[in-house]
Amino acid sequence: MAARRRILTGDRPTGPLHIGHYVGSLSNRVQLQDAYECFFIVADVHTLTTRPEKHHLDALHDNIRQVVLDYLAVGIDPERSTIFVQSAIPETFELNTLLGMLVTVPRLERVPTVKEMAQHEHLDALPFGLLGYPVLQAADILLPRADLVPVGKDNESHLEVTREICRRFNKLYGPIFPEPGTLLGDVPSLLGTDGQAKMSKSLDNTIYLADDTATVQRRVMGMYTDPKRVRADIPGTVEGNPVFQYHDAFNPDAAEVADLKDRYRRGAVGDVEVKRKLARALNAFLEPIRERRAAYAADPERIEAIIDAGNAHMRRQAQETMAQVRAAMGLKFAAAAGALAGA
Ligand code: TRP
Repeated sequence: MAARRRILTGDRPTGPLHIGHYVGSLSNRVQLQDAYECFFIVADVHTLTTRPEKHHLDALHDNIRQVVLDYLAVGIDPERSTIFVQSAIPETFELNTLLGMLVTVPRLERVPTVKEMAQHEHLDALPFGLLGYPVLQAADILLPRADLVPVGKDNESHLEVTREICRRFNKLYGPIFPEPGTLLGDVPSLLGTDGQAKMSKSLDNTIYLADDTATVQRRVMGMYTDPKRVRADIPGTVEGNPVFQYHDAFNPDAAEVADLKDRYRRGAVGDVEVKRKLARALNAFLEPIRERRAAYAADPERIEAIIDAGNAHMRRQAQETMAQVRAAMGLKFAAAAGALAGA
């Protein structure tokens, strides 16, 4: 069998994942497992670029567990794919340092998200590590020699940095790394329950994959809809209306959705009916995910074993890559130390 092409992607563990993550990336990842050898990184070290304080670190272990539970709950299959934790792979730090020599400060200062993250966290000067966020991400991607990286638009600029560093490395030291391509999702991101452009924990406009039936019901009934419709007999707008965007994404009954849209446009349906039907569809969609999540959550040792096995598998790939990197660069002492460590 020809070796399958490799994918690496993942998330920073800042808390449980929501239905926006599902639509934007998780459902895609579940599909990609069939054709690719997939590595899913829980990028805990990246959270330190903006949140190095101890109380954030104290929450990290639980957050990592939540993300892994969400991965497993949506159908990422640990028998076929590798789920691992970034900080468990020390080669990441070594490669990060070496790659940092191949990119300039002005280049990194031009990455728009780096500035945005600093502003979002109210940091008035850029920490060295945050400026290096895209370099660390390049190390994540190049360590398993990934061919393809599925990400959202917000990560496109990081992957450009990865490719530039990759080309520079190969030119200076020899062709070690395949140049990774970007696999951009084509689905528009899910609006927040309040109609804002994006779901985010800080805006409190999310529905989590782990939310129970009553929470989903309450969240949906409180959703933002067309504000002009103060009465049910006023014609409403479907486009850009989060309630209908969610119906399109999660309600498999296309005839019901078409009927609701039609009556909404004519002013012949109340918001309550539209929302009740959405809550029902969303709960039906989430139920098997919740069940799988609960089954895994009830077996913490199994989760630990899955993470340990994923870390061990990724570690072997990382050691192989670093042996090639040290040899290509002629870092003899590093190569000898790596050999001593069993690489
Ligand atoms: N930067 C990604 C985010 O926005 C997380 C991440 C870290 C990542 N390393 C990665 C994504 C490698 C894809 C590949 O949260």
